[in-house]
Amino acid sequence: MPVNIIVGMQWGDEGKGKIVDILSEDHDIIARYQGGANAGHTVVINGVKFVLHLIPSGILREGKTCLIGSGVVVDPQSLFSEMELLEKGGVRTEGRLIISPRAHCILPVHKDMDKANESRKGQKKIGTTGKGIGPSYADKTARIGIPMFYLSDERKLESAVRSLLEVKNSLLTGFYSQKRLDPEGLLAEIRGFAKRLAPLIGDTRTVLRDAMNAGKNILCEGAQGTMLDLDHGTYPYVTSSYTVSGGACVGLGIPPRRIDKVIGVAKAYTTRVGEGPFPTELSDSVGAKIREDGAEFGATTGRARRCGWFDGPVARYATEINGVDEIALTKLDVLDGLDPLNVCVAYKVGGKTVERINDDLSILERAEPVYRQFDGWKCKTAGTTEFAKLPENAKRYVGFLQEQSGAKIGIISTGQGRESTILPGK
Ligand code: GDP
Ligand code: IMO
Ligand code: MG
Repeated sequence: MPVNIIVGMQWGDEGKGKIVDILSEDHDIIARYQGGANAGHTVVINGVKFVLHLIPSGILREGKTCLIGSGVVVDPQSLFSEMELLEKGGVRTEGRLIISPRAHCILPVHKDMDKANESRKGQKKIGTTGKGIGPSYADKTARIGIPMFYLSDERKLESAVRSLLEVKNSLLTGFYSQKRLDPEGLLAEIRGFAKRLAPLIGDTRTVLRDAMNAGKNILCEGAQGTMLDLDHGTYPYVTSSYTVSGGACVGLGIPPRRIDKVIGVAKAYTTRVGEGPFPTELSDSVGAKIREDGAEFGATTGRARRCGWFDGPVARYATEINGVDEIALTKLDVLDGLDPLNVCVAYKVGGKTVERINDDLSILERAEPVYRQFDGWKCKTAGTTEFAKLPENAKRYVGFLQEQSGAKIGIISTGQGRESTILPGK
């Protein structure tokens, strides 16, 4: 009865969507535990591309049940357009998607405030996706948010919306010099989507408990990545949720002892979108080549992703903090033809060599990477499905990433499609 967690080991966009899609085949339930529509998980099936933001990637496998846990913040507009896109693409969602009544709503005011906060910060901006994530989690934590279960209780909803707008309007009209919002208008809007949401709301925690007791297989799908975790990432350049594996227990209500395996997803190099420290960033033509070859442009915002070498200390940190049992290494093929390759093994900080990331975050801002150089491979790994068929230099490179990360590499991905994958033991 395994309960497995998928977690990003870097700054997001590691290819979690593709790995979830592969592993979904052997799972009955796929459940998102945190984040919102800031995520963009791309899955390519028979050349057809699907980009999922809120709905678990398992929706693309017929017969699988998909859950959105209490730890997720849901933008109803974004959810409905995602459902419509899936239906258009021939994917049935009806009866297969359940949203926790405890998940909070992202309202238009959250998106407006996200954007207003960013423009106010100017140079110091976080580089958020503008999807209202931070403001929505802030309201949840301040206990003035709108959880799904309010939507079916008119009295609670009305009183909560009025209180929320009291706070928001004082900020909007004062601090942000914007127009006051009318509670009647917002209530009408919420009532509109509440009807459509009602059949999707269900007791996800009980569904999970019963599934665990019945010996079913559950895959918990993380969004973002370890270095974007609110507590354990590069604060303040983080998202507002718990992206580490522990977030799955909190965001789905699964007891920690029921977790069987944590699968960390890492790219064969590193990318980051938005601002914040990134020790191995390449601001030269090599970084541009990786961006081109890896099509490193955001699935949610279309922004160019910053690219750099694989960061060993980041991988070790992610293995430790998530308890990674096995790594799925993605995008090895993107390095085809790149020579030489570098892997960061430590940082030089003020004359000292640092091999592990600790709670002193200023280290990452001052770190100069110490690299181990590798010969590249001149041939193609794209589409390879057997480890034995990889060029010797690629095998050596993968072996070194495993050593640096401190966890076994199980899956190796060599292309966008399902078929371009080296599965464990192959
Ligand atoms: P996620 O947010 O972690 O799910 O990752 P994204 O979907 O945002 O970004 C990963 C991108 O790389 C997507 O476009 C995937 O289709 C693509 N991708 C995943 N694995 C591979 C791979 O092994 N090789 C190549 N070339 N592309 C891949
Ligand atoms: P997936 O699930 C990469 C980044 C943003 C910004 C910071 C805060 O596709 O890996 P937010 O909108 O969350 O308040 O933005 O986090 N970010 C991501 N970067 N992949 C993601 O998701 C991300 N979701 C948020 O770029 O730096
Ligand atoms: Mg993504």
